[in-house]
Amino acid sequence: MSTKINHMKIQVSEPKFWGNEKLYVNDCLDTNWISSGGKYLEQFESAFCKFTNRKFAVSVSNGTAALEVAAYGIGIEPGDEVIMPSFTIISCAAAIIRLGGVPVFVDVEEDTWNINPEKIESAITENTKAIMMVHIYGHPADYNKIREIADKHELKIIEDSAEAHGAKIDDEVCGSLGDVSTFSFYANKLITTGEGGMVLTNDVDIHSRMSAYRNLCFIDGDRFHHEDMGFNYRMTNIQAAIGLGQIEQIDKIIKKKRDIGKYYLNKLNQINGLKLQVERDNCFTTYWMYCVQLKSGEIDAKTVMNLLKKEGIDTRPFFKGLHLQPALNGHSRSVGAFPVTENAYNYGFYLPSGMEMTEDKVDYVVEKLKSVLITLGYMNNS
Ligand SMILES: Cc1ncc(COP(=O)(O)O)c(C=O)c1O
Repeated sequence: MSTKINHMKIQVSEPKFWGNEKLYVNDCLDTNWISSGGKYLEQFESAFCKFTNRKFAVSVSNGTAALEVAAYGIGIEPGDEVIMPSFTIISCAAAIIRLGGVPVFVDVEEDTWNINPEKIESAITENTKAIMMVHIYGHPADYNKIREIADKHELKIIEDSAEAHGAKIDDEVCGSLGDVSTFSFYANKLITTGEGGMVLTNDVDIHSRMSAYRNLCFIDGDRFHHEDMGFNYRMTNIQAAIGLGQIEQIDKIIKKKRDIGKYYLNKLNQINGLKLQVERDNCFTTYWMYCVQLKSGEIDAKTVMNLLKKEGIDTRPFFKGLHLQPALNGHSRSVGAFPVTENAYNYGFYLPSGMEMTEDKVDYVVEKLKSVLITLGYMNNS
C-alpha cells in the first residue's frame, strides 16, 4: 500500500520512451537529417494515417498550429463563425481568430465536459461555417449528434483530438471523424514528440491547402512566388523520429492509461460527492488525465490542490471558460449561460495520470486525497 511511497513527489504526467525513439533520433543525427525533410517525417505521417484510418496527414510544430492549419484547410475566412465548447484550451479560439474568424462558445455536458450538442443549433447564424468538437480529457464528444447537426446545416467539423489518441466512439477512432482532425504531441500527451502536432483529412484539396499553409505557401515550380501567406509550422525529422518510436508503442500506452483510469475509478467511486469521468456505453476513453470534480458551493478545487501539493502530489486545474477570457473579448461570441463550464473550472482538477503511475502510486494519491477531504470536512472518516 501507500506506506511504500512516503514523501514521494508524484508528477501529474511524465513521458516514457520505451521503444526505438533513441535509435531513430541518433539516426537523424548520424545522417544529418535534422530539419523538416527526412524519412521519419514520412514514416510518422504514414503511421499516423494508419492509426486514424485517414488518407492524408500533415505533421506540424504543435497542436495549436494544427488547429490553425486545419481551419485554413477547410477555408475559414474573415467573418466566418466556428461554434466550439467554452470548456477547452485557448488554442481552439486562437486558431479561428488568427484567420479573421469568430469563435462562438456554447456550454458543455455535465457528464463528459464535452460540447453539449443541444446548445449548438441556437448558436448557428448565416456566418457559421464549422463546428469544432474537442474530445476533452480523452473522452469522445457526442459525434453522432454533432454530425447530424453539421450535415443538416451544411457545416464542416473540425475535430480536436489533442487529448484523445486512440479513443473511440462506436468503434470509430478519434481523429477519423472530422472533415479535418488534429492532434498534439506535447510531452503530457499519450504520445509525444516533445512539441508537435498532426492534421488529418481524407480530402485531397484540404490536404494540399494545409500542406501549403504549414510551409509558407511555397508553390511547386515557382518556389518564391506566393499567392497566400502561410507560416513555418513544420515538424522536424528529429521530432518525427521520436513520434515514430512512440506510435510503435501506442497499444501498450493505451492499455496502461486505461488500466490507471479504471484503477482510479474503482477507488474513487467509494468517495461520495466526487464527480468522476464517465465512460459512455458507446465510447472507449483513454483517460488522458484522471479528472475529479467536487460538489459545487463547498470547497473549491484550488484549496484541495494546494493541500495535495504539500503531500508531494502534483495536480492541474481545469480550463477556465473561454467565454471568461479577457483576451477573447471583442473577438468572439458567447451563446447562453455556462453553468457547467463555470462549475468545472471552480471545482474540477486532475490527478497524476502519467505512464509512471503504478497501483501503489494511485493508492497513495487516493489515500492523501481522502485525508485532505476529511481535514476540510468535505467527507467523514468512515
Ligand atoms: C484540447 C487541446 N487542444 C489543443 C491543444 C494545443 O496543443 P499544443 O500544446 O501542442 O499546442 C491542447 C494542448 O494541450 C489541448 O489540450
